[in-house]
Amino acid sequence: MSALRRRTDAPATAAAATPLVTLVVNGRSVEAPASRPLARVLRDDLDLTATKVACGRGECGACTVLVDGRPTMSCVTAAGLVRGPVETLEALADEATDLREEFADAGAFQCGFCTPGQLVHATALARRADELVGGDDLPGAVRARMSGNICRCTGYQAITASVCAVLERRAAGATSGPSCGHADPEEAAS
Ligand code: FES
Ligand code: FES
Repeated sequence: MSALRRRTDAPATAAAATPLVTLVVNGRSVEAPASRPLARVLRDDLDLTATKVACGRGECGACTVLVDGRPTMSCVTAAGLVRGPVETLEALADEATDLREEFADAGAFQCGFCTPGQLVHATALARRADELVGGDDLPGAVRARMSGNICRCTGYQAITASVCAVLERRAAGATSGPSCGHADPEEAAS
């Protein structure tokens, strides 16, 4: 048996010995090895590549998906520990249309690698817009809740302003209107 053949056989043997769990991903039931990181299931097994992996150790939020509606770092979540339906940006794209437009208008991304995780987390916040907009310091609340989503490019002002604008519009029940202080894209990048 060639060396290549042996390497190819080894993962299959290990996978066969790993218990399988059933996940619901974007409304579809799938089976995955219990020990496999959710991010790998999504990207490598299901080809849901909107979910990014950057640090791979739970520090940057690039891999954020929703599990039972809660932002979850999929790189450090084993499939066997998933409790509830999984939603990725592929399934949230329509719901996040206003967020995506606001990010684009405000220049809330540069390289874009963190953006899917930012949008997924912001989508979860937008579902609670009524509750969040009622507080004293909406930008502060948004920054605190999204502090696990690291962006090395933008300086966060445009991201925060974009999320605030959408939350305010959602809370007001409007689809468009004045925002809570769009950051100037050039200022935000500085
Ligand atoms: S890639 Fe998962 S937290 Fe960084
Ligand atoms: S836009 Fe580059 S890391 Fe956020």
